[in-house]
Amino acid sequence: MNAAELAYAKLNLTLEVGEKRPDGYHDLVSIMTCAGLHDTVTVEETGRGDILVTCDEAALPCDESNLAWRAADSFFRALGKPCPGVSIRLEKVIPMQAGLGGGSADAAAVLRALRRLYAPEMPWIQLEEVGALLGSDVPFCVRGGTARCEGRGEKMESLPDMPECWYVIVKPQEAHPTGAMYAAIDAARPARRHTTQQMTEALRKGDLTQMADNFYNTFESVLPQESEIPAIREELLRSGALGAMMSGSGSAVFGIFAEKETAQEACERLKGRWNRTFLAESV
Ligand code: C5P
Repeated sequence: MNAAELAYAKLNLTLEVGEKRPDGYHDLVSIMTCAGLHDTVTVEETGRGDILVTCDEAALPCDESNLAWRAADSFFRALGKPCPGVSIRLEKVIPMQAGLGGGSADAAAVLRALRRLYAPEMPWIQLEEVGALLGSDVPFCVRGGTARCEGRGEKMESLPDMPECWYVIVKPQEAHPTGAMYAAIDAARPARRHTTQQMTEALRKGDLTQMADNFYNTFESVLPQESEIPAIREELLRSGALGAMMSGSGSAVFGIFAEKETAQEACERLKGRWNRTFLAESV
């Protein structure tokens, strides 16, 4: 018995980081969407009673600290049944430490696969709640598509799908630990733009140009001096992107394109300088 699921990267089209709450998390408002860049997650029953994670990416620990492992553990706890034993195979494509939610997407894919195998009657809302225990982006990754996310990220309202478009996603060497990036916002208290409402309207109209005009991410206000993000954004815009922005706390940057050919050419050009550059279609 096995089930394979695609784990899509998430992009933050807007990310307005608000105040720090008493629980240490920050209130945020964000529109997230899935991009067609994905890992593949395969879950198989072993009958051995434990959870085994394997991965084709040596840098990723496969022990209990892996979010995919914890997803399986949390799923069977929520179900109230002992784990019959599962092996989870992660085939990674989404770069790590990128703000693309790779770990969250893998965890969500594990939850979806286990639901399919062991609890097809489980309400999706319950699966999203299990996801929320694992990380702020996991509920969105369980649901997929495009959604407005609030609170820590767990309060979601689905929005219309993206109009057909292409993303060029660039992952530079630099890494921005998420907790430290939130702390930098607390220290700097940057002025914030509120573009989520305009982005929602643009999505409803399917207007890519209006969407690109409303890209916003508070984390871009607290980038380190030496960051390559501004240079990548410039290069994407010079290569024909309608808009470009960092996703999450980074360090990946995405540009949005209306034409596939322009996106392909931009992808080739940027690959020359940043070898981890990817082309992905809207989902
Ligand atoms: O929930 P997740 O594990 O993805 O969050 C990683 C870290 O990012 C948290 O420990 C917290 O410091 C910070 N965070 C936050 N506010 C959020 C989401 C994450 O402060 N809404």
